[in-house]
Amino acid sequence: MFGLSMTVGIDLGTANTRVYVKGKGIVIREPTVIALDAETRKIMAVGKNARMMIGRTPGSILAVRPLKDGVIANYEMTEEMLRYFLNLTRSRRILMKPKVIVCIPSGVTGIHKRAILEAASEAGSRQTFLMEEPMAAAIGAGLNIWEPSGTMVVDIGGGTTDIAVISLGGIVTADSCTVGGDRFDEAIIRYVRQEHNLTIGERTAEDVKIQIGSVDPRANTGTAEIKGRDFVTGLPKSIDFSSGEVCRAISEPFYEIINNVKSVLERTPPELASDIVEKGIVCTGGGALLNGFTMLMSEEIRVPVHVAEDPMNCVIIGASKAFESPEIFRNSLVPGPKFM
Ligand SMILES: Nc1ncnc2c1ncn2[C@@H]1O[C@H](COP(=O)(O)OP(=O)(O)OP(=O)(O)O)[C@@H](O)[C@H]1O
Ligand SMILES: [Mg+2]
Repeated sequence: MFGLSMTVGIDLGTANTRVYVKGKGIVIREPTVIALDAETRKIMAVGKNARMMIGRTPGSILAVRPLKDGVIANYEMTEEMLRYFLNLTRSRRILMKPKVIVCIPSGVTGIHKRAILEAASEAGSRQTFLMEEPMAAAIGAGLNIWEPSGTMVVDIGGGTTDIAVISLGGIVTADSCTVGGDRFDEAIIRYVRQEHNLTIGERTAEDVKIQIGSVDPRANTGTAEIKGRDFVTGLPKSIDFSSGEVCRAISEPFYEIINNVKSVLERTPPELASDIVEKGIVCTGGGALLNGFTMLMSEEIRVPVHVAEDPMNCVIIGASKAFESPEIFRNSLVPGPKFM
């Protein structure tokens, strides 16, 4: 299995990438953003520093998010980013290339799986293993997935929401939809444009969502000043934006997630569904932190809903457990080809 060579786990998220190195823990937690010189293709920044550049770059610099909707949208950039992160983890004493586990959304197709395997091997992985995100999320949330009882985990990430019912260590029913935090941000941008004639950037939208956002129309979580450009006059403008407005803006993507969860429950065998009603649904991912999310979800679905501890790190924690558990290794990982 994983012998003396270095082993690395990567949660390549649409919004954030986390890297785990066996024996060291989670060593990297950075936004999945890369900035490079448009002409020379030299990397200018990765992670937080690159995120700062989004929407602010001159023509000579590209700041891109290489993943969209949970899949690779820009292959070259994904490979560059993986190479950059893998290089950061490599110590000079160990010359051998690492073995790498990459977590992927459950709906990823064969072509995209191959693209990820290839990008990782090009980036310096000796052998790459794929692990489905819902499984990793459930393990990382500390759920007992091996018992003959239904467990439901909903991972609300930046690009996708992964929904899965797990029993006896395997996924019984699952669905992955491309609705996550990014869609909430886009909905805020659209709303502000329609209602206030104001054009704002995606970072501003995300910041206001995290600061005062709520999906619960009864909650009053305050107001925030947002700045952008008046698209009638073309001049800079700022407005006060209330949590009620954020709620109206994001209600559509929220209910899309709820409907997807309902449809997975409808397809779940009755014995497992009754286990879930008893134990409740566990939410992971950054979206689970949105104010009112789990409460309203519980009211809509009529099942208790809990947020996992440290929800944004559940997937990488789950992947890290695969290094220690032959059972997880055998059952939950798909090995790619070996390279020397
Ligand atoms: N406190 C918060 N309130 C609301 N949303 C939040 C909060 N913190 C983070 N988010 C959102 O969570 C999302 C990122 O979550 P996460 O890091 O789990 O996604 P990811 O793993 O990168 O994406 P994916 O799994 O879809 O590929 C972003 O859209 C971010 O805006
Ligand atoms: Mg994720």
